[in-house]
Amino acid sequence: MVQVTFLLNGDPVRLENTSPTQTLLDWLRESRNLKGTKEGCNEGDCGACTIMVSDARGSRAVNACILLLPQIHGKAVRTVEGMSGPAGQMHPVQDAMVDHHASQCGFCTPGFVVSTAVAHKNGQRDFDDQLAGNLCRCTGYAPIIRAAEAAADAPVPDWMQDDLAKLDAIDGTDPNVAMPTTSDELAAWYAKNPDATLIGGATDVGLWVTKRLQSLEKVAFLVGVEDLKDIKVTDSEIRVGAGVTINDFRAAIASYHPDLAEMLRRFGSVQVRNAGTIGGNIANGSPIGDSPPALITLGARLHLRKGDARRDILLEDYFIDYGKQDRTPGEFVEAVTIPRQIDRLKCYKLAKRFDQDISAVLGCFSIRLNSGVVEEVRIAFGGMAGIPKRATAVEAALLGQPWDRQTIDRAMEKFADDFAPMTDMRASADYRLLAAKNMLLRYYLEDQGVQTRVLEVSP
Ligand SMILES: Cc1cc2nc3c(=O)[nH]c(=O)nc-3n(C[C@H](O)[C@H](O)[C@H](O)COP(=O)(O)OP(=O)(O)OC[C@H]3O[C@@H](n4cnc5c(N)ncnc54)[C@H](O)[C@@H]3O)c2cc1C
Ligand code: FES
Ligand code: FES
Repeated sequence: MVQVTFLLNGDPVRLENTSPTQTLLDWLRESRNLKGTKEGCNEGDCGACTIMVSDARGSRAVNACILLLPQIHGKAVRTVEGMSGPAGQMHPVQDAMVDHHASQCGFCTPGFVVSTAVAHKNGQRDFDDQLAGNLCRCTGYAPIIRAAEAAADAPVPDWMQDDLAKLDAIDGTDPNVAMPTTSDELAAWYAKNPDATLIGGATDVGLWVTKRLQSLEKVAFLVGVEDLKDIKVTDSEIRVGAGVTINDFRAAIASYHPDLAEMLRRFGSVQVRNAGTIGGNIANGSPIGDSPPALITLGARLHLRKGDARRDILLEDYFIDYGKQDRTPGEFVEAVTIPRQIDRLKCYKLAKRFDQDISAVLGCFSIRLNSGVVEEVRIAFGGMAGIPKRATAVEAALLGQPWDRQTIDRAMEKFADDFAPMTDMRASADYRLLAAKNMLLRYYLEDQGVQTRVLEVSP
């Protein structure tokens, strides 16, 4: 059992003997009777349960349905009930939602209010992206976006700013399940408890709890391990701690590899990216995780640690087979490092929906030329095999060859040597293979200056 302390709508809360896998959503609704936070999908897809979490790193919108209580230890939480002021004053976003008729059945409305209020607090105006993780089935998005725009210039209400000042005053005693605050502490504990489950952002693990009804006996939460959240850039590499969220990684990588940042805009939603971590996206070994193909293409190395022993391997070698990774019990992902390089990276994510969808195929390409000849080539795919995997036969067909359409056509034939993809609900094997080939063609055409538009099908 866990002891968790946090601020809820400005008031301190201290929970003794809480289950480490109790979700914040269930607790809010069942123990606090705070029913404004809705349960829609219970798996991070719809945003009806969006709440605001604040700490020294700022304020973020997160899905409460897959947020486990220990993940908010030492932080401030505001639900939709906490968006209005202490004397019942409406938040400017709430006023605008009313003025613009931005709610019909209203089930989605609390989530929209919280997501919009967080964007408002952070000065973010890219509302299509900020609200991509919130689904509305009745109102339609136009009035909601109009409301968000109308409120954008209003000052942030005082009560939305107060939490950080009060955070210092709450009791931050460590709970008695593993809530390490340094990676040394984590390493020592995990080496002694190798059968435990590590929890980063719980955007995968949360679903084991809410959908598979799994109860996890022994867990360690990484959310408090500050040194795993560092991003360090030197002349030779970009080192990203395992605890860095997808959104923080996206912001940091944008100036070095803008196409990777753009692809990550389609990773889940704002809420999922605010919780999910790079470490979790790699460690889970998924064949359709979005960061591994890009990182493999960039030649990234993975840093693993068990107790005091550290080793690093090429990220591509971490993925051995479906469900099998090069990680021993008690060993955790500490960081991933990306060598500094001239940017030639392009990432093409193919999914049934533009926003908030898992990839059917994700192709990443980095091809460097010298006097019109392919001098260096790295290509990796997700969704084409049981693991994220390099296209070595395609690479071999390109290396040393002139950068022209004949070379591309010959290389496209080699995809069948590299991959025998499966047919599943996301795509058929034939479709995957054809799509992968066409991604190489697209990379080539874009390099020739041909304009391609991902949202438009042209004859
Ligand atoms: C609605 C929704 C949409 C999603 N969309 C996408 C998407 O578009 N693209 C995509 O790639 N993924 C997507 N995901 C999956 C998920 O968000 C990512 O895989 C995320 O990066 C997982 O990170 P996490 O920190 O939440 O991992 P967690 O759920 O905390 O953990 C995942 C696994 O990794 C292990 N783990 C975590 N951290 C470490 C560590 N440092 N060392 C060793 N093991 C560790 C855990 O024990 C667990 O086995 C989506 C999920 C949801 C719910
Ligand atoms: S209930 Fe749908 S995202 Fe949480
Ligand atoms: S108003 Fe009904 S789902 Fe949005």
